[in-house]
Amino acid sequence: MHTPVMLNEALEYLAVRPDGIYADATAGLGGHTAAIAQRLTTGQVIALDCDGESLELARGATQAWAERIRYHQAKFSELRTALASLGIEKLDGLVADLGVSRYQLTEPERGFSLTATGPLDMRMDRSQGMTAAGMANTTSERELADLLYYLGEERRARRIARAIIRARPIRDTLHLARVVELAVPRTGRLHPATQTFMALRRAVNRETEELDALLVAAPDLVAEGGRIVAITFMSLEDRQVKVAFRELARQGRARLLTKHVVRPGEQEVAINPASRSAKLRALEMKGQRG
Ligand SMILES: C[S@@+](CC[C@H](N)C(=O)[O-])C[C@H]1O[C@@H](n2cnc3c(N)ncnc32)[C@H](O)[C@@H]1O
Repeated sequence: MHTPVMLNEALEYLAVRPDGIYADATAGLGGHTAAIAQRLTTGQVIALDCDGESLELARGATQAWAERIRYHQAKFSELRTALASLGIEKLDGLVADLGVSRYQLTEPERGFSLTATGPLDMRMDRSQGMTAAGMANTTSERELADLLYYLGEERRARRIARAIIRARPIRDTLHLARVVELAVPRTGRLHPATQTFMALRRAVNRETEELDALLVAAPDLVAEGGRIVAITFMSLEDRQVKVAFRELARQGRARLLTKHVVRPGEQEVAINPASRSAKLRALEMKGQRG
């Protein structure tokens, strides 16, 4: 059974109206989508994800409420056109639960796992773009070091980049994990390649640019009184959301519902350790003036 992260808090801030139109921009395994759908009568929830395989899993998991859900494969930067193609002009709320899903992380074939052998893929949408192997095997040492430093907050970026270049061609997930492990000593609980994998994943999926696109599009698409809820898992992303939300509030376009970031309760973290690093922020759109 899939456990959606910060579900109660997301629902509280989304304040679902039974007749409303909602978007789940990150349907994943359908956890948040299902919970929204359960609260609807005449309303609907648009379940979006850039990963077609995840969307099929979400469809299966949410069958009981299928008549209230519309599934559509789209990335954040396609949100506007995706909703327009479904004939939807305004939403009563949007939720985005960022990052990768448990399915993506644990399915070796997808290449996100540093503890299972698989192709070094990491594309959320496997139909397009460069894989992590392509990136690890063709990027210059300097670019690779920058990527690890800026997208993975990896302080040992130069040493790791040099080791990757020397070990080329990187064959698969475990090969990369091993190369990094040999290059830098283990400090603390995390596998030494954790940030390398994170950085490559973020680069392959253009996650910074995609989140920016979402943060620009969503406020235009959510109606007055409608809400936006964002759940992030790393400080870089939380900062992106915080800055964008504060700017909307400063411009008088929205009201912050969370003055401070909201974290999962102890009980949730005990039951679902994956929720440990989650941070939630929410806002309510105001009417457009002028
Ligand atoms: C943490 S999971 C969501 C889990 C979901 N809330 C649930 O309860 O099952 C994040 C999902 O967002 C999707 N995603 C990440 N970046 C995306 C983007 N730029 N556009 C669309 N979907 C994206 C991923 O494919 C993944 O399925």
